[in-house]
Amino acid sequence: MTIPSRTRVAIVGAGPAGLVLSCLLHRAGIDTVVLEARSRAHVAARVRAGVLEQGTVDVLTELGAGARLAREAMRHDGFELRVDGERHRVPVRALTGRPLTFYGQQEVVKDLIELRQATGAPLVFEAPVEEIADPTGEPVVRYRHAGGTGELRCEVVVACDGFHGVGRSTVPAGVLSTVERRFPLAWLGVLAAVAPSSDVAVYAAHQDGFAMLSMRSPRLTRLYVQCRPDDRVEDWPDGRIWAALHRRLATDGWALQEGPIVERSVTPLRAFVAAPMQFGNLYLAGDAAHIVPPPGAKGLNLAVRDVVVLAERLTAALTGRDPAAVDDYTDTCLRHVWRAQQFACWLTRLLHVPPNADPFDRSLQRAELRALLSSHRAVQLLAEQHAGCPPDRAGGAVRTEGAPAA
Ligand code: APR
Repeated sequence: MTIPSRTRVAIVGAGPAGLVLSCLLHRAGIDTVVLEARSRAHVAARVRAGVLEQGTVDVLTELGAGARLAREAMRHDGFELRVDGERHRVPVRALTGRPLTFYGQQEVVKDLIELRQATGAPLVFEAPVEEIADPTGEPVVRYRHAGGTGELRCEVVVACDGFHGVGRSTVPAGVLSTVERRFPLAWLGVLAAVAPSSDVAVYAAHQDGFAMLSMRSPRLTRLYVQCRPDDRVEDWPDGRIWAALHRRLATDGWALQEGPIVERSVTPLRAFVAAPMQFGNLYLAGDAAHIVPPPGAKGLNLAVRDVVVLAERLTAALTGRDPAAVDDYTDTCLRHVWRAQQFACWLTRLLHVPPNADPFDRSLQRAELRALLSSHRAVQLLAEQHAGCPPDRAGGAVRTEGAPAA
């Protein structure tokens, strides 16, 4: 493919954020070029998140990337919280009207790549961006490709290049502020080729530590065990993984089915937020700007929210309809980012046993879990946060009928 030397919006990264943004802008008639460091095969095979909020499903469907998702995704009415073997159902759909959709992030990415390629608009793999020059003027994106180097001139650059990309480091230190929390915890995640042993996802709070059973398809189970951030996958042979899972997920009258482990990785739990998400004509979206800890599965959904907000504003600005439309991009996103951060960090604290947790803290944590599960209102809030609010209500207060607006 010949790579143009000029476009209106250069998008760095073909993860969910970059791909959704490229499709939204293409639909609005705005030229974009997507540059992705890795190969198509690598991007499409990367096992990451897998729980989609209804707002994310709606965006994908509306874009035309929802057909396979509609056929193959698993829709659940809720999830189960298992506290030291005691089972509690959280009926998310009954409480919120929205189901939880299980569909692997790599499947979302495959569908979006197909959609983008069907438009004929440039999506270039194996084109790592090395520099974004002049972000406050007329940006130039410098990349490597096919043994050489290239330059792409544009009006706007959007860095959708994940946590380790070049976009965030292009913003000067005096402009960008970052806040971070590193938890003394990690998740060992495995993908097992076996039918899920439960019809809904299970979060288990156990005295040994957290464990989780989730699913990617009727034949693929996703399992997580709390481990230490410095653990390596080699520290966890199959026998140790299954023993920990059996113990932490155990409950009367239920058995965990084992199967061949086809993928495993260790993810340290961290929360990170960078702001502002705009510097001149450079924008940050998705993991490039923020990381939420995995409980609650908000990362992918947040990335989609960011680019929905950005696409709407860039469309208004680049078509001349409202040049100032982009000005509130950071503030709008930070509201939904912090809302997700609060939920994910709260769940992290509630469900894990930190190393060296003392008996007092353990008892407090159990008391909090039991108080939560005995309150209809608290369970309602848990269900709402889990299901995620629709994008147009992101971060906004719900107005009581007849009450004056604040
Ligand atoms: N040049 C081009 N592409 C790059 C560069 C670069 N210098 N650096 C990184 N990339 C690419 C990566 O290879 C990756 O494909 O950017 C993409 C970033 O994608 P993700 O990491 O998936 O980030 P994002 O699109 O923001 O998706 C949100 O939600 O479930 C969570 O963390 C999970 O990946 C997930 C995320």
